[in-house]
Amino acid sequence: MTNIVILTGAGISAESGLGTFRDADGLWAKHNIEDVATPEGFARNPQLVVDFYNMRRAEAQKAQANAAHIALAELETRHNGAVTLITQNVDDLHEKGGMQNVLHMHGQLNSALCSSCDHRWPVAQDMQVGQICRDCGAPTARPDIVWFGEMPYGMERIETALSRADIFAAIGTSGNVYPAAGFVQMAKAYGAHTIELNLEPSAVVSQFDETRFGKASETVPAWVRDLLQT
Ligand code: OAD
Repeated sequence: MTNIVILTGAGISAESGLGTFRDADGLWAKHNIEDVATPEGFARNPQLVVDFYNMRRAEAQKAQANAAHIALAELETRHNGAVTLITQNVDDLHEKGGMQNVLHMHGQLNSALCSSCDHRWPVAQDMQVGQICRDCGAPTARPDIVWFGEMPYGMERIETALSRADIFAAIGTSGNVYPAAGFVQMAKAYGAHTIELNLEPSAVVSQFDETRFGKASETVPAWVRDLLQT
């Protein structure tokens, strides 16, 4: 039985119409990271930040899973062994594609977080600045997104999974943001076979034993077919 650990990034959702961050027309070409993806930016101008995530939530709600998301869900169902899916994505396209267990290390658009008491709750509609926490009643709700300078979710579980991985795959991620970009090195140190599936070589491509370049909607289903046949 092989343990498979998969890390996904914005590239897997690109063909569903959601923008990536660092491609030429990506989100970080149109928005300033410091303004919309840091706790300091939120403290300075909460309206700008809440509007940014409201816009992204509305876009994500309209988007459909593509063949890559669906193939990974099939792998989860049919693989004879553990499949751990870690995503940096804040959309819910893995879930829409049928995946049961998704670890959202950078948070989720359809969740709110209270910065006073850490309570979380689902949000389907636009959030407002100063929204009331459903648990403690403080007006301190914020998007449940891990911003730069904050600790990603699930790191303990992720490290355990990486230490047991036989295969580690990174899909559609540019390898620029840590700690996620360092997972390949960790998995490799524990003896995993490492594979990158991306449109183009990532910043950490040299760490991978195997690479498959192309659109996720093509490379991921083909990789899953190979895995399920062996
Ligand atoms: P990036 O925008 O940095 O990288 C997207 C990667 O996907 C690039 O390497 C593209 O070449 C690749 N790509 C684009 N289209 C593709 C397709 N159709 N098929 C396969 N690959 C494709 O996005 P991430 O690596 O996910 O964090 O970014 C990591 C983090 O940086 C994000 O989670 C976000 C961002 O700042 C936070 O907001 C905390």
